[in-house]
Amino acid sequence: MTTHLLDIADLTAADLESVLTLAASPVEALGRPLAGLGAALIFEKPSARTRHSMEMAVVQLGGHPVFTRGEEIGFDTREPVEDVARIMEGFHAVVAARVYEHATLTRMAAVSAVPIVNMLSDHSHPLQALADVLTMRQRLGALAGRTVAYVGDYNNVARSLGEASALSGMHVRLACPMGFEADDVEIERLLLLGAASVEQGNRPIELVVGAHAVHTDTWISMGQEHDTASRRQKFEGFTVNEEMMSLADPDAIFMHCLPAYRGFEVTAEVIDGPQSVVFQQGHNRMHAARGALAHVLGVRP
Ligand code: CP
Ligand code: NVA
Repeated sequence: MTTHLLDIADLTAADLESVLTLAASPVEALGRPLAGLGAALIFEKPSARTRHSMEMAVVQLGGHPVFTRGEEIGFDTREPVEDVARIMEGFHAVVAARVYEHATLTRMAAVSAVPIVNMLSDHSHPLQALADVLTMRQRLGALAGRTVAYVGDYNNVARSLGEASALSGMHVRLACPMGFEADDVEIERLLLLGAASVEQGNRPIELVVGAHAVHTDTWISMGQEHDTASRRQKFEGFTVNEEMMSLADPDAIFMHCLPAYRGFEVTAEVIDGPQSVVFQQGHNRMHAARGALAHVLGVRP
């Protein structure tokens, strides 16, 4: 059966462990599963980290990445999503896509004989979350029983981070403005995945207390730019600043998937300060991508 990677919630705790072990393994230990093979990387939205980390991960696994912009492919405009998937499987051992609509990925996965990998959709960002838990492990050690607090929009990044943290047995706290929260089904899912506890509220200064990792993301995701003014107003009070960080554990780390907008979701003092691990987190994207690709290609530690 083909193994796709569309969501962290599709992984078991053992799968997550396997991916993270592969991510932390020396490149040579993975055995070049893409030797002589291609990997399609299709982007409907801009990217710096995801494109570069995935291209380099493909090269490290012995393969050849082929980057294509979404406009050139034209999902459902130039040809149906399913036809794209069926053509790509003849050229590539894996197909990864960054898409506006998550359904584009599920439709590809429904017909593709090769793994489909989510490089960010409106729903989730699993490759980011893998780098996030890898970084938390490196900085905090064993994660079960530790607390991650996410401050801001319950978006693609928050959903995947929550799922990966839950699978790791962490306490998950979500501080989101009213109207931008996780619904009850999402909270239930985090508990089912193994979260030690899940708390959600609209007061970040209460939810970051004692947290070991404080994470945020942009208030305006790609595709939401038309809503910038209204979102900035609704997210007032959700800026991660030094005062907020002082309420977290004294050794807490600050995390952000990047790109960051200083002065909005985080102050420059915090993101450029001593608790920030954002560049380690960003660099881990390549290791996480390599682990994820090896996993869907059937490599096991
Ligand atoms: N964090 C992240 O996915 O960055 P890019 O949009 O630059 O790929
Ligand atoms: N939530 C952001 C993440 C960017 C990596 C977005 O979707 O634009």
